This record gives sequence, structure tokens and C-alpha cells, in this order.
Amino acid sequence: PSPSSRIIAIDGPAGAGKSTVAAHLARHFGLLNLETGAMYRALALKATERGIPLDDPAALTALTAETTIALTPGDGANRVLLDGRDVTALLRTPEITAAASRVSVHPGVRHWMVAAQRSMGQTAPTGVVMEGRDVGTVVFPDATLKLFLDASVEARGDRRFLQTGVTPAAQAEDRDSITRDIAARDERDRTREVSPLRPADDAVRIDTTAMTLDEVLDRATALVEAALQNT
Ligand code: DC
Repeated sequence: PSPSSRIIAIDGPAGAGKSTVAAHLARHFGLLNLETGAMYRALALKATERGIPLDDPAALTALTAETTIALTPGDGANRVLLDGRDVTALLRTPEITAAASRVSVHPGVRHWMVAAQRSMGQTAPTGVVMEGRDVGTVVFPDATLKLFLDASVEARGDRRFLQTGVTPAAQAEDRDSITRDIAARDERDRTREVSPLRPADDAVRIDTTAMTLDEVLDRATALVEAALQNT
């Protein structure tokens, strides 16, 4: 099989540990790490900057036709080029986080994203770890291995709070409101009509609620090791 057939799909809700696991696996196995959520965030940023309503499917789909989004390897996370402009630092605000979830419900937007993601995955010479919500179900249903990471909403809220708690802006936000935001985003991501967040039938599910990070990384690494041996 060609190297490009090495595709590790990682899906799951916000705060389950996908990005950390994906970055680790990419480094360990020499795979390209592609964060599909960053692409939804970049489109949400562009729509917001242009004042395009996030509930206007026609305008948002038209916007995709004049947009290029490139993901390049960064320090753990991807760097994101939106029409050639590095917007990496602008994508993690609460406003853009919520906006990304809202633009992602529109079928025209998803169709464009999936086409771009398939072509990025297929042309990566080393193989990829692709992380998101619908990678195993829609983007690469024939992926080498599918992981679905999950954890209780409280555990996910706590992790996000600890991640963001060091920045002054985040100190004003309390843990409960972060957990509420995550729950609202989950609800939208899981109940949308097109490609809702759900585990593929053949995904390996890992509930990380009571696991340490090292335990999660060890388990994921062992699963990928075994899966790549068969390619
Ligand atoms: O993974 P993330 O938090 O950066 O994703 C931001 C939003 O983008 C998420 O709330 C839903 C959407 N998304 C999606 O619909 N499909 C993907 N494959 C990745 C993200």
C-alpha cells in the first residue's frame, strides 16, 4: 500500500484530549498532523471579519469558493494560513470557537471542507493523523485506524479551564461557564443534521474521564503501532 494510505482518524467532542493525542502520535510515528477543526475556525474568522451572518448557508457556501485554507506543521498544533495570511493566533477565542461550531452545521460548508481534507490526507507522503468530528465517519471511512476519544462533560470542562486558566483573559471566566459552553457546543455538534459527531461503528472508543494523560497516550500509541504493522 502507498504511504498515503496510512491514515489515523481521531474524533470526539471538545476537551476529550484529541489534539494532545494527535500531536503525540504524529511526532512518534512521523505522520503529518492535520486539525480539521482549525479549518472550521478559519472560515468562521473570515465570515466574522466580513460580517457574514453565521446562519446564512448560501453566503457561507459562496464564501468557501473564494477561500483557501492551508494547515502547516507547527509546534504541536498546526499553523493556519487563511488566504495566505497566518491567522493561527486568532482562532482560539471564545467567539471564534462558538462561530466555528455554527458555520459547521451547513452542508455546503462541510462539503467543501471534506473535499479539501481528503486531498490533504491523500497527498501527504508520510501518512496523516487527522483530528476532528467526522474524520472516521465521513472524511476517511476507510482509515487505517479510528479512535474516538470521549470524557464526561465535567472532566472536559475542567481540563479546558486548567488549559486556559493561566491567561489573564481566562481568569475572569469561571469553570462553570467554560463547562456550559462546551455542553452547548457538544449539543450543536452532536445533533446537527449533516455529519453529526458520533463514533464510527469500527472506531476504538477511549473514555478518558478517569485516565491520566500518560495512560491515554500509551493506549493510543499501542493501538496505532498495531494498526500500522498491518499496512
Ligand atoms: O476541534 P475544534 O474545537 O477546533 O472544532 C471547532 C468546531 O468545528 C467544532 O465545534 C465543530 C466543528 N468541526 C466539525 O464540525 N467537524 C470537524 N471535523 C472538526 C470541527
